[in-house]
Amino acid sequence: MLLDKDEERILAGEEGETRQKMLELLVALGKVFGAERLVPIRSAQVSGASYKTIGEYGLQWLNSLDAKAVVPAVLNPIGMPRERWQEMGVNEDFAQKQQAVIAAYERLGIGLECTCTPYYLRETNFGDHLAWSESSAVSYANSVIGARTNREGGPGALAAALVGKTPCYGLHLKENRKPQVVVRVQADTREWSIADYGALGYHTGKLVGNRIPFFSGINPDKDQLKGLGAAMAATGAVALYHVEGVTPEALKIPTDLTGLDTIAVEAAEIRKLFKEIPVEAVAVGCPHCSPAELEEIARLLKGQLVTMPFYVFAAQGVIEKNQRTVDSIEKSGARVFADTCMVVSPVMEQYEAIMVNSGKALAYVPDMCAAVARIGTIAECVRVGTE
Ligand code: F3S
Repeated sequence: MLLDKDEERILAGEEGETRQKMLELLVALGKVFGAERLVPIRSAQVSGASYKTIGEYGLQWLNSLDAKAVVPAVLNPIGMPRERWQEMGVNEDFAQKQQAVIAAYERLGIGLECTCTPYYLRETNFGDHLAWSESSAVSYANSVIGARTNREGGPGALAAALVGKTPCYGLHLKENRKPQVVVRVQADTREWSIADYGALGYHTGKLVGNRIPFFSGINPDKDQLKGLGAAMAATGAVALYHVEGVTPEALKIPTDLTGLDTIAVEAAEIRKLFKEIPVEAVAVGCPHCSPAELEEIARLLKGQLVTMPFYVFAAQGVIEKNQRTVDSIEKSGARVFADTCMVVSPVMEQYEAIMVNSGKALAYVPDMCAAVARIGTIAECVRVGTE
């Protein structure tokens, strides 16, 4: 790999052992993936933040590091809300360990927002190079914004935050961002909700695997794109997709679909994922809610009381900017929690069946929470959660 003078200095240990080791890690990754150089990044999003996933060994590794992030960086969701963990029912032992993980990241200069929607907190633009970890955030950045990021592992994203650069390969390069398979949706999608797009992503991810799909026949808004991409990243390994006439690269860059495989998806295949099974709790906000989703939940819950635990998840910064909407949701007995989610929090393991409005949660809840997952629209979640 070609390194500039600054990078050579860091590699020689002139900026300390941690930055030296982090650059060694980036160079090793770059060599494995055939990168010719490093590219400066605008921001990083670091996974491996929940004690449930990194455990004691990960915590010890974080505590051994000594450097500060040189670009804006946030964390992925952790196992509990930083402030309201007792209210969510997190046990003291887990909370202490989670707080130790947070303190370790804070020492490294990583922002303590713990969210899979960093794009709601900091402007991210078309063409920006990023080092983000969480698969739905990566999908949104690449597909909906037109920024450029590979799906980084936790250590790679942390190294990028501490050095300010990432190896330039994969989706950082224009030539690797072209469609590889066409998905023709044969359905009347005019009334489709976020959950329908999540179910489409759940179904399609299994069919396309790690290829870059080009969709036709759909016209999703940004929240629906968020749900579609999150689910495809969960059941497949889709880090970038294009939607005809909608996503920025499909609009700006001429698309050649000649010779690509075509997959047809029909409405009935999506509808059959919506099964009416009894549930013990409702969890909405995977990925974390946008302001518009919070408003919709508040409107639907207005004047009602929930009859089962009803969780809503959003970034702390989004909650703070929409506090009146959040207060209105909580009048129903539902709770809006920051920093965590239905998949990474151990609290959700107490339920045997959970209703969600997300294709990604539909895919992950069975494995991560050992619970049956039911998908429905936000309106159906509110109906079930209040009946
Ligand atoms: Fe975000 Fe958790 Fe879903 S990290 S995408 S809310 S599984």
